[in-house]
Amino acid sequence: MEGRDQIVLVLDFGSQYSMLIARKVRECNVYCEIVRHDIPASEIARLVPRGIILSGGPSSVYDDGAPRCDPGIFSLGIPILGICYGMQLMARMLGGDVGRADRREYGKAELAIDDDSDLFAGLGGSTTCWMSHGDSVTVVPPGFTTIAHTYNTPIAAMRDETRRLFGIQFHPEVAHTPRGKEILQNFLYRICGCSPSWTAAAFVEESTRRIRDHVGDEGRAVCALSGGVDSSTAAVLVHRAIGRRLTCIFVNNGVLRKGEPERVLSTFRDHFKLDVVYVDATERFLAALRGVRDPEEKRKRIGHEFIRIFEEEARKLGNVEFLVQGTLYPDVIESRASDTGPAARIKSHHNVGGLPEDMELKLIEPLRYLFKDEVRVVARELGLPEEIVGRHPFPGPGLAVRVIGEVTRERLDILREADAIVEEEIRRAGLYDELWQAFAVLPAIRSVGVMGDERTYAYPVALRAVTSQDGMTADWARLPYDVLERISNRIINEVHGVNRVVYDISSKPPSTIEWE
Ligand code: XMP
Repeated sequence: MEGRDQIVLVLDFGSQYSMLIARKVRECNVYCEIVRHDIPASEIARLVPRGIILSGGPSSVYDDGAPRCDPGIFSLGIPILGICYGMQLMARMLGGDVGRADRREYGKAELAIDDDSDLFAGLGGSTTCWMSHGDSVTVVPPGFTTIAHTYNTPIAAMRDETRRLFGIQFHPEVAHTPRGKEILQNFLYRICGCSPSWTAAAFVEESTRRIRDHVGDEGRAVCALSGGVDSSTAAVLVHRAIGRRLTCIFVNNGVLRKGEPERVLSTFRDHFKLDVVYVDATERFLAALRGVRDPEEKRKRIGHEFIRIFEEEARKLGNVEFLVQGTLYPDVIESRASDTGPAARIKSHHNVGGLPEDMELKLIEPLRYLFKDEVRVVARELGLPEEIVGRHPFPGPGLAVRVIGEVTRERLDILREADAIVEEEIRRAGLYDELWQAFAVLPAIRSVGVMGDERTYAYPVALRAVTSQDGMTADWARLPYDVLERISNRIINEVHGVNRVVYDISSKPPSTIEWE
């Protein structure tokens, strides 16, 4: 939080909600952070936030052990906005009343605005809002007035003008509340007095300065570069701060896509002038994967091998004190939520899990407060090529989890060629940016075909293309037939060892995006 002079805190009563709110606040160019719901008022006072937002959450204020905030926060003189559960909690803690609902109100509602002087300024008499709640406020606390209502919810928004405390029952952070951003902007700019100064350029400047301070004049750092947007952005940012005292280690694990090692090296060595140690460890990884068919075992072996190689290379460098990691904010929140908050633990992917503890490296995590879309904005600000910034996600275990069954050099080569054709044709059709991922999979079967006069017995290639917001759920992409046809023709004609192409038309759930 250091140096971010205008900060808004989101108190976390259910991290999915908090995260969405935090993203929306940052979209208003105001820096914000998510903190525990029970953070002491004294700690908040020390952080001097411009405003506080109490998030929604899955609890009812009547539940045993329902999460509460420190009552002291209401008398700090800092503006507070309670959203959904946050509003109900505020009402209950300040002497109002909350009614238990027989049934949930869920969906769009027309919000009639009774007072448009501050929170709802500029919205006119009514606006659409998204409701998702069981309980609701039935009596406002002393000092509060009702400032909006809906058909089902007589107290849909409330305010204590003197103490600058606000509560809204609906969710301004979701797209179904079309003017939710204006409501948040009113809170941030009008009520809290924030200005929209949190930008990528400001982030880059400030991070550079902080990394420099942290590492000092002599310190050296090492990072694992994968060519993905997170590790690339982290590396370029740290390089901006400490130059060639950063060494990047780029391990070719033999399961990368076609042309990837060359592309990563030319971008970072030639263009950005980073000090990159390139390790072609293809043989070691293939040896570690020999005979392995189980997907989780493949992941485990690739992970172990990677750590071993990284460790060997890092030790060769000598006195390195710092390790750069591209950890993102959702990972931080989710791992924090798992041991504290009311939110359920959600699966999280870590870039480089389980790095050697005995190396005693201090961490530099320059992206630890950023969301993925913010990383992309920062990456562009740093001049990273669009090819890296907009690149589809690629799993750490790479093509090894797309060669079904045993991973051999021959089968990897087949898949690599087929995959390159898929990407080329998807880009040529202008569809790349619309898709979450599009790639080829090599099943462990063969089928009969006929080429010329000859019978063939060769592999099929499965084409997988999905749309998704976050990879948690996904829909198979309705690719145009002519694109499917071009991909199929090219793969069968150009990739030796393939005589058939099939299209995967399953969504997630119940399928997953990757086949393994
Ligand atoms: P699934 O297959 O679980 O994938 O629907 C969801 C997203 O996660 C990626 N994925 C991985 N990423 N290591 C990673 O770094 C992995 O082991 C891994 N497995 C899946 C997948 O590509 C998709 O974007």
